Amino acid sequence: MTREQATTLPPGPRGPAALSTALMMQRPLESLLGWHRRYGDLFTVRLLAFGTGVYVADPHAIRELFTGDQSDLRAGEANAPLAPVLGPRSVLLLDGPEHLRQRRLLLPPFQGAAVHGYRDVIRDVTAAEVARWRVGDRFTLRARMRALTFEVIARVVFGLADGARTERMRRALSAVLDSSPIFLLPEALRRDLGAWSPWGRFQRRLAAADALIHEEIARRRAEADLDARTDVLSLLLRARDEDGEPMSDGELRDELMTMLLAGHETTATGLAFAFDLLLRDPVALARLRDELAGGDDAYLDAVVSETLRLRPVIDGSERSLTAPRTVAGWTLPAGIRVYPAIAVVHRRADLYPEPEAFRPERFLDGRAESYAWLPFGGGIRRCIGAALAQAEMAEVIRHVVTHVDVRPRRAEPDPVVMRGITLTPRHGTPVVVTRAARPARRPVVAA
Ligand code: HEM
Repeated sequence: MTREQATTLPPGPRGPAALSTALMMQRPLESLLGWHRRYGDLFTVRLLAFGTGVYVADPHAIRELFTGDQSDLRAGEANAPLAPVLGPRSVLLLDGPEHLRQRRLLLPPFQGAAVHGYRDVIRDVTAAEVARWRVGDRFTLRARMRALTFEVIARVVFGLADGARTERMRRALSAVLDSSPIFLLPEALRRDLGAWSPWGRFQRRLAAADALIHEEIARRRAEADLDARTDVLSLLLRARDEDGEPMSDGELRDELMTMLLAGHETTATGLAFAFDLLLRDPVALARLRDELAGGDDAYLDAVVSETLRLRPVIDGSERSLTAPRTVAGWTLPAGIRVYPAIAVVHRRADLYPEPEAFRPERFLDGRAESYAWLPFGGGIRRCIGAALAQAEMAEVIRHVVTHVDVRPRRAEPDPVVMRGITLTPRHGTPVVVTRAARPARRPVVAA
């Protein structure tokens, strides 16, 4: 970087990258909000592994980033560490025209009518999960929600139904997901030293899952009712690009993995946060139950929006600059990262009075301005699964609050920490079930 370029960076914390990284891992929201207060709408943070990045917390500047020419903003390369599991054709890893081609193919199954149709599956999966809860059960909601959202992706995206093949696939995919810290290892440590070495074990798990996915793709392609099926894989098998070409098996495999990875933990975490906020707020909880009893879903949707405002799962979209770019008056040099600062914009008092308060009512009068509410990022990389994720969160919350009572086991809201690239409740939102469809498994111990 030249001296002239270096001087164009906005101010920011001056300590070593290791310190900023530790702060971001342990106290991400407090750190970002503190830096914003101190340095203003654009601030520069140096982070280990990510390098120099500029957070942008001004909605007008974010609008400029997310609209118009985005050819100098790359997102795919930032996700490169995920390549071993996602595969080279994943929409998350591509940039430019190849990215747009995949995106156009993937979008239709995640729009309006299609997502509406998935609500029944979500309700069935949730009912089966909640039916297992008994009075006195103690668990972390994040773990239960993780199992539930996995099941939803298996049914909605992979189109799996019950049965032995499904179970086999579920086991194979879970084994890959459970290896996730492994595939984030730096290049140098990725050595297959046999089935007992971490990378070797991961490679074998991945090969087993890939074989099953390819088997499923071939089977589905040959299915007589393919044209009538509504799961995402079947819709993708019928999709054609602008030249009338179908997706190749390799593309299908990579996108299925991408949707599993992008859509399962994120939604589970969003749900854990939703319950952590809602269960501590008797007024909001009572109002939600009343409105649902009256057949009105507006407040339910507002609970989802307010959760994703106060507890966004991703703190900032990520873009690498391939050319210098002027953002809010700063000429930023090529080679750095720019983060539309989702978590900071969501706490701006000029957009959300008393921003720290959980107040779903804010969203009752209509949707927030596009660039003031960004839990799903924006522009040509906006989350493909946004409508599905919101439908899923709404249906799960509806079922839980209308069928059971669960109480948080911690006196204070679960602190927010960073794990990998997502914000998550440090303790996973531990709860105890106090009313359920089924009686207690054992005597309830007073808390
Ligand atoms: C609460 C749950 C979710 C949250 C908070 C979330 C958030 C995000 C964010 C912030 C991005 C990056 C956007 C950007 O860079 O501007 C993203 C991308 C993406 N998400 Fe989600 N997501 C969620 C659920 C899902 C689900 C359920 C799926 C699919 C089943 C999904 C699929 C994707 C894909 C494929 C991309 C990449 C889009 C592209 O690069 O063009 N996400 N998501």
